[in-house]
Amino acid sequence: MKILLVGGGGREHAIAAAVKRSPQNPLLYTVMSKMNPGIAALSEDVLIGDEKDAAAVAAFAEKNGIDLAFIGPEAPLSAGVSDALWNAGVPAVGPKKDCARIETDKAWARKFIEKNGIDGNPEYAVFTDYEEAAAFIDKLKDVAVKPAGLTGGKGVKVMGDQLPDIAAAKEYTKEVLKGDSVVIEERFIGEEFTLQAFVDGKNLAFCPTAQDHKRAYEGDVGPNTGGMGAYTNAGALLPFLTEEEYETAKRIMKETVAAFPKETGEEFKGMLYGQFILTKRGPKLIEYNARFGDPEAMNVLSLLETDMVEIMKAVTTGTLDQLEVEFSKKATVCKYAVPAGYPDEPKKDAEIEVSADAGAAIASEKTGPNSDLIIYYSSVYEKDGKIFTTGSRSVGVVGLAETIEEAEKIAQNALDNQIKGDLFFRRDVGTNALVQKRIDHMNEIRSEK
Ligand code: GLY
Repeated sequence: MKILLVGGGGREHAIAAAVKRSPQNPLLYTVMSKMNPGIAALSEDVLIGDEKDAAAVAAFAEKNGIDLAFIGPEAPLSAGVSDALWNAGVPAVGPKKDCARIETDKAWARKFIEKNGIDGNPEYAVFTDYEEAAAFIDKLKDVAVKPAGLTGGKGVKVMGDQLPDIAAAKEYTKEVLKGDSVVIEERFIGEEFTLQAFVDGKNLAFCPTAQDHKRAYEGDVGPNTGGMGAYTNAGALLPFLTEEEYETAKRIMKETVAAFPKETGEEFKGMLYGQFILTKRGPKLIEYNARFGDPEAMNVLSLLETDMVEIMKAVTTGTLDQLEVEFSKKATVCKYAVPAGYPDEPKKDAEIEVSADAGAAIASEKTGPNSDLIIYYSSVYEKDGKIFTTGSRSVGVVGLAETIEEAEKIAQNALDNQIKGDLFFRRDVGTNALVQKRIDHMNEIRSEK
């Protein structure tokens, strides 16, 4: 089998390693914008170029006789790379452009959910006019403000968080309206969790739930990032999530998948990522993504027991109901090492180093559920045998163990001793203290009258 991978971040290194673990010994071909050394080491051939250039990606696939493709990031999905691959006869894991709107157009996504009677939406409205938006903010009083388009996870601002009061919410609304329409939503209060699923158009195979950490600094303060680290529990449920709440989130995602053909004329085939928040009234939807999460892909793919090539075949042929997709019942903690100054003024082109004794932990066909530690290269590039930072997250370090506590120690130890460079990370992700805080928060919310 020849597999094409589109994308060159930590999430894609995780996809590449999972593909290479397949007993079918697939050959990997990758299109990425920069030379990720981890992915390059697993690839037969690499095209360094624009991942959004649908024609160039399809031509690279045709030239290499690709059998199946996996598209990692949202930007190529939004640019129609999946459509181009299917048109060229290459089945792709990653929805076509019209289905990817569930992520790329937040206003369309909210309307889609509402129109189809699916649970999980907040009270919300979409505006292009500032005065109308401001009046709606006054009505709801406690809001989230979202640009309708793609912002790399950094455009959403929430009152009581990045927006101190109504005046700040209005000011940000004004700023967003300069370039986009704006979605104003009732603010949900609770604990966030991520539920990801492989989707074949009709059937969903769910991954363990994860919790990401958006804020740059320990204690959940500082600017929003693409995600500084995430953890999963042993089994599918996070420590603050009940089986019933998990089932509700699954039902919301199943109903969403069933509604695509009516809305877009196409089935959704790829990864569906539900960003949920667990509230007093159960799981609610913050947003959908049409791809694996980053870092969450590194957590769950480290645990994947099932042959990734078989999953890709099942996703693209609509036969996921005939495949048992299994994950090891270990806990994982993933922490990102990011350049000093990230996200506002990241130190670019700075050399980093993964020490030689950690070399075997760099994600490959040899790493997986039996590993204790897996290291994923993210937005870095290789030049003259050395590795350098870009403006984004650099190295994802995943600890795997029986408990979150043990997994955290493994990841932290690697960050402290085996990754060198002008980098920083969040020490608190996956610690007992942080996880207990999440549990206490949910207990408090559940007990409110
Ligand atoms: N971890 C958040 C995201 O992938 O969008």
